[in-house]
Amino acid sequence: MLLDVRNLTITGQSDHGPVDVIERVSFSVAEGEVHSLVGESGSGKSLIASAIMGFLDPKWQVRADRLWFDGQDLLTMSASERRQVIGVDIAMIFQDPRSYLDPNDTVEAQLGEAILNSDLKSKHWWGRRKERRQKVIQLLHRVGIKEHQAAMESYPFELSEGAAQKIMIASAIAHRPRLLIADEPTTAMEPATRQQIYRLLGRFHASHKMSILMMSQDMGTIMPESERLTLLYSGQIMESGPTKALLTEPFHPYTKALTTTSLYQQSQCEPKTHLPTLSGAAPPMHHLPIGCRLGPRCPNARRKCVITPQTRKLRSHFYACHYPLNSAAKTRGLSRQDIIATKPARENKDE
Ligand SMILES: Nc1ncnc2c1ncn2[C@@H]1O[C@H](COP(=O)(O)OP(=O)(O)OP(=O)(O)O)[C@@H](O)[C@H]1O
Ligand code: SF4
Ligand SMILES: [Mg+2]
Repeated sequence: MLLDVRNLTITGQSDHGPVDVIERVSFSVAEGEVHSLVGESGSGKSLIASAIMGFLDPKWQVRADRLWFDGQDLLTMSASERRQVIGVDIAMIFQDPRSYLDPNDTVEAQLGEAILNSDLKSKHWWGRRKERRQKVIQLLHRVGIKEHQAAMESYPFELSEGAAQKIMIASAIAHRPRLLIADEPTTAMEPATRQQIYRLLGRFHASHKMSILMMSQDMGTIMPESERLTLLYSGQIMESGPTKALLTEPFHPYTKALTTTSLYQQSQCEPKTHLPTLSGAAPPMHHLPIGCRLGPRCPNARRKCVITPQTRKLRSHFYACHYPLNSAAKTRGLSRQDIIATKPARENKDE
């Protein structure tokens, strides 16, 4: 596995004491794979991305049985080792690219900085300057910006949102990372611009075998290349597995609700389809419910749901729900040993 996250817990401080905002989250990204992490606003996607990148403020406590990149433990490596890995092998793009680009530098200066010195061959500084400029032009062309001269002379505030995101992607791919973490890179973009960005990422994934961890708020914005899908709600993993299986026969009410809502928004639902929408909103960090955190909003919740459901594994499909959906599909042709709990039952802290 290229990225292997096992039982990641991120604890923050609330007025009532420490809170596990992210609770025992596990997922992995294989070499060359696109993995989508989907969750409503506040579910913890950016916290997870920041914990992987090592960007989290020290007020957050990060623990994990494993936070490995290519077999190396990101949690125990020194700051300089981590900078080396993050700077070369992992890159990240953000929801609001303009706020991450330096407002005082031109696009040429910023992209020029992203090119590694080891990629330049010339011995003389003037030769290297020319080479760097050529590479900036190539990068702009690769992200679909043909008017390279105008783009190079621009400052971030002069760029459209789509162009700024393309510059950020160009900066991220300049050193050919093995893993790209994309934290909602197309939220609030026009559908046509979103499609352009997805096509661009899809091309780099295909041509460089670049792995992508794509974070999205809804099912309508997952990349078509996504092989695995993980659903996050309020810091807990609800369901994870092959994208196609989760979209067609989800085991978890949260997956079903988000999928149906997305199909409805794209008008692919039969007329009068019952929408299993989730009423209410995600709970704030200082007011997390006990047991299954989806409980107060779940249409299927019953008394047992105040106990945290075990994560169950069915081949490569994981789900955490006491009353899973599609149970006929689940057990079709399977023995009892095929459905196993990955963790022993755990006492809920508050019980
Ligand atoms: N700097 C912070 N200080 C206090 N709480 C925070 C901070 N950053 C995040 N949180 C809390 O942590 C939880 C997860 O937030 P996070 O930003 O990771 O969610 P998200 O899934 O990225 O949401 P969005 O889709 O809106 O970006 C939320 O309850 C949020 O209020
Ligand atoms: S465990 Fe209960 S509350 Fe949670 S998703 Fe399943 S049915 Fe709903
Ligand atoms: Mg976020």
